[in-house]
Amino acid sequence: MKTTISAIGTAALLLLLLMTQHRLFAQETHIRVDARKPAAAIQPTLWGLFFEDINFGADGGLYAELIKNRSFEFDNRLMAWESFGTVSIHEENPCFDRNPRYVRLSFTNELNSTGLENRGFSGIGLKAGGKYRFSLFGRAGGETPVTLRIQLVGRSNDILAAKEITLIGREWRQYRAELESPATDAQARLRILMKERGSSADLDHISLFPAKTWKERPNGLREDLVQALADIKPGLFRFPGGCIVEGTTIDTRYQWKNSVGPVENRPLNINRWNYIFAHRRFPDYYQSLGLGFYEYFLLSEDIGAEPLPVLNCGMSCQFENNDDRQHCKVENLGPYIRDALDLVEFANGPATSPWGRLRSDMGHPAPFNLKYIAIGNEQWGERYPERLKPFIDSLRSYHPGIKIVGSSGPYPDGKEFDYGWQEMKRLKADLVDEHYYRPPAWFLANAGRYDNYDREGPKVFAGEYACHTDSRKNSFEAALCEAAFMTGLERNAAVVHMTAYAPLFAHYDNWQWRPDLIWFDNLRVVKTPSYFVQQLYSTFSGTHVLTTTCEGRPLTGQNGIYASSVIDMKTGEIILKIANTATEPRKALFRIRGGEKGSLVADRYLLASPGGEDENSLEEPGRVAPEKDQITLSGKQFSLLLEPSSFQVLILGKQAAR
Ligand code: AHR
Repeated sequence: MKTTISAIGTAALLLLLLMTQHRLFAQETHIRVDARKPAAAIQPTLWGLFFEDINFGADGGLYAELIKNRSFEFDNRLMAWESFGTVSIHEENPCFDRNPRYVRLSFTNELNSTGLENRGFSGIGLKAGGKYRFSLFGRAGGETPVTLRIQLVGRSNDILAAKEITLIGREWRQYRAELESPATDAQARLRILMKERGSSADLDHISLFPAKTWKERPNGLREDLVQALADIKPGLFRFPGGCIVEGTTIDTRYQWKNSVGPVENRPLNINRWNYIFAHRRFPDYYQSLGLGFYEYFLLSEDIGAEPLPVLNCGMSCQFENNDDRQHCKVENLGPYIRDALDLVEFANGPATSPWGRLRSDMGHPAPFNLKYIAIGNEQWGERYPERLKPFIDSLRSYHPGIKIVGSSGPYPDGKEFDYGWQEMKRLKADLVDEHYYRPPAWFLANAGRYDNYDREGPKVFAGEYACHTDSRKNSFEAALCEAAFMTGLERNAAVVHMTAYAPLFAHYDNWQWRPDLIWFDNLRVVKTPSYFVQQLYSTFSGTHVLTTTCEGRPLTGQNGIYASSVIDMKTGEIILKIANTATEPRKALFRIRGGEKGSLVADRYLLASPGGEDENSLEEPGRVAPEKDQITLSGKQFSLLLEPSSFQVLILGKQAAR
């Protein structure tokens, strides 16, 4: 009897085991990677960056200037300054004709002194031991020299560092001083005090930069933020927008010629993100253009990315102003087209050409070797192609080597989108810019978006995209959906030549739009989960796509799995990118045709997090970050258990495809 019960028990156990194995087997996703025949080449521009001065991304962000409203040109001339004593604004006999206002300080009957304080961008960030370069243009009110006390003041009002400068004579001259901060303070301020009663002085372009900017350049960029960009290893860099390019009105559009030449004389522009969202207004948001087109080309060169400038096509932002009075008439487009031709000359022309000479005078005699230009940002309707055409005609005839990017409007589908594409094909644009800010379900459903795109026509530039969850946080869920979708971008590298997440930067205290790729405050940088996804794709971009299928079809969510793979023909590495969007683990069996016979050690980067809402923060910057390990696999066939809700990149040794 005992024996019988035990036999039945064993049989039941065996049956259970068989059933479990069967279930597991049924769930196992079979993935084939064909490494014998590399498919489309991957463009070096595939994984790029998109920069716009939104969320205080330039002034108060990447541009390292610490003084806000340094030229007293904001509409409220003393905005960002606290003044005491007798302080007034003037513009007669200015120091800079295109930024004519300056401040006059007079120390007359005040009990203490006359002076100014600047609070920077939500404070001035100082680092202990850091050196800071102060400068101003000034002139004394009379023949007697005027001494000014320059102080760095900490958040609790301690004077952290002080220097004196003495203005001599009635002519404008530049004065400089270097101050060293003994302490770290994210909310310091700059104070300027007059020393002698009875004196007066005019001051303009009051500036403070950390000595340690990126590559220690004067008028430089914030080192830690540039490093974060460089670490992505981007192949493309789009600039300066975005809606910034269009302007709310045609007069407030971005004009690149205002952004080059001596920085003191670059005319200020109001930033449209100052007022565009009624619930997140920033009345003190202006564009100094200190980070202008020269600095942009230089930065692109530094980080090894092809620059992609975007120019206004003669239209202001259609969301804000879509009536004809706010667009330039087609017959008046001459100066706009001239701007485009001159920009190419500024970037590529010989130092003997007018714009090439300016580039050379600014410090870069060699051309920047510009290859691409975009005309128009998010344009739609008939007005756009009729304006784009004369740009294309002129650019083709004067600069036939430059590839032209046109727009398909602000949405990834619909009547305007279809019309935009039809027109871009008719006009023979080289690439078409598509934008999508969409929810997670859209990203998952669209991983096959480009599988059937026409390979013969213009190529795709996915110029602005980000997954927007309900909370619009930079959550792990958003990053995972982007990672899954990006397998489709990679698989379709034959037609997708450029991409960029958007927007790039956001200051924690001053943002208008989220999610964003990189967050920062005055001293710290936080990389989002989406940042790491972009970085993994770009770092392990490979050179050619490998056909990767499950039952003969691309992996676009079978069992929750999205996958693509590439080979790097220079190193022989096969690189697999796999997103498991299911909340349970998944088993995948990989067969690599042409893979290594024996076993090999693979590097693996795993991005996973228990909670979809998990995000990185100033307090916990590394909460969601890739972990690297090594696993031993057979180069031809291996099983992988894919962690729930995870994205991983596997680099299969240095094996040449055979
Ligand atoms: O990235 C933010 C904005 O989104 C861009 O300025 C614009 O092109 C898009 O509508």
